[in-house]
Amino acid sequence: MQIVITGGRGQLGQELARVLCASHEVLSLDLPECDITHFAAIERIAAHQPALVMHCAAMTDVDGCARDPLAAYRANALGTHNVALACQRARAPMLYLSTNEVFDGTQTAPYLEWDAPRALNPYGASKLAGERIVQVLLDQFYIVRAAWFYSPGRENFITRVLARAKAQGALAYVDDEIGNPTYAPDLARAIAALIQTKHYGIYHLVGEGIASRYDWAAHILQRAGLRHIPITRAKLADFKRDSTPPRNGALANFIAANSLGIKLRAWQDALEEYFTNLKSGI
Ligand SMILES: NC(=O)c1ccc[n+]([C@@H]2O[C@H](COP(=O)([O-])OP(=O)(O)OC[C@H]3O[C@@H](n4cnc5c(N)ncnc54)[C@H](OP(=O)(O)O)[C@@H]3O)[C@@H](O)[C@H]2O)c1
Repeated sequence: MQIVITGGRGQLGQELARVLCASHEVLSLDLPECDITHFAAIERIAAHQPALVMHCAAMTDVDGCARDPLAAYRANALGTHNVALACQRARAPMLYLSTNEVFDGTQTAPYLEWDAPRALNPYGASKLAGERIVQVLLDQFYIVRAAWFYSPGRENFITRVLARAKAQGALAYVDDEIGNPTYAPDLARAIAALIQTKHYGIYHLVGEGIASRYDWAAHILQRAGLRHIPITRAKLADFKRDSTPPRNGALANFIAANSLGIKLRAWQDALEEYFTNLKSGI
């Protein structure tokens, strides 16, 4: 089918295009040619007569969103409104990429698809506004909440940990912020499987298992052969940030796993593949 991806040059947009182009016609749109905050984006997207729109475009700088909430709402809420109107015009379903940051992180268990969202920061609130707009304007949609994803070949949490280890010789990461490290190629494959089902709804697609930032960084050091670099546990309160992250940002994939058999592998196994590919230059 003909698929339009918004934010197509972003981290996930590129990964999705790579996976989907084997069996679909994929058109990636991004800034500057298609600014979703402009009304013209509606016609720009609809003109391609997509059978599905994957809406990845967003303002994703979480601290930047906290400094400029209006810009966050412009991109993530108004932008999503325009993309939803394009879907209406083209009679196409939307797959909207959302986030674990729609939850406030006060619950002790991982968040299930039906748990009540309550965002703590402007990024999460603007993405949640996008979710609501999609639900109001469209009959057929997938809302895919993801978290902490990283792609090979781009700057990501792993490259930042390794760069800091080399530059500073010692690391400190928080152990009171938890989530699901998610390998973007696994997420893209899960999304490719999901759109085949036409089972619209809200899904949590994340790497299996939970880690704190500390656990994740420690695992990266170990896998990169940098065990000698000391890493200490810190607390969120030790760092001043413009945004407040949810302490418990962990999602549980209940619906896709139990009703469709779509599940990502354990985050440690995916990290293994990331490093193996890095070594063999893939
Ligand atoms: N990264 C994560 O861990 C994570 C976790 C959960 C959910 N998500 C969601 O997943 C989606 C993809 O994330 P990602 O990490 O791939 O993001 P990304 O790399 O920042 O890509 C987003 C893309 O959207 C573009 N964009 C920004 N404003 C736009 C506008 N007004 N019109 C058109 N395009 C615009 C960006 O262009 P510029 O780069 O030029 O600004 C960028 O190419 C987002 O919706 C995000 O909220 C991400």
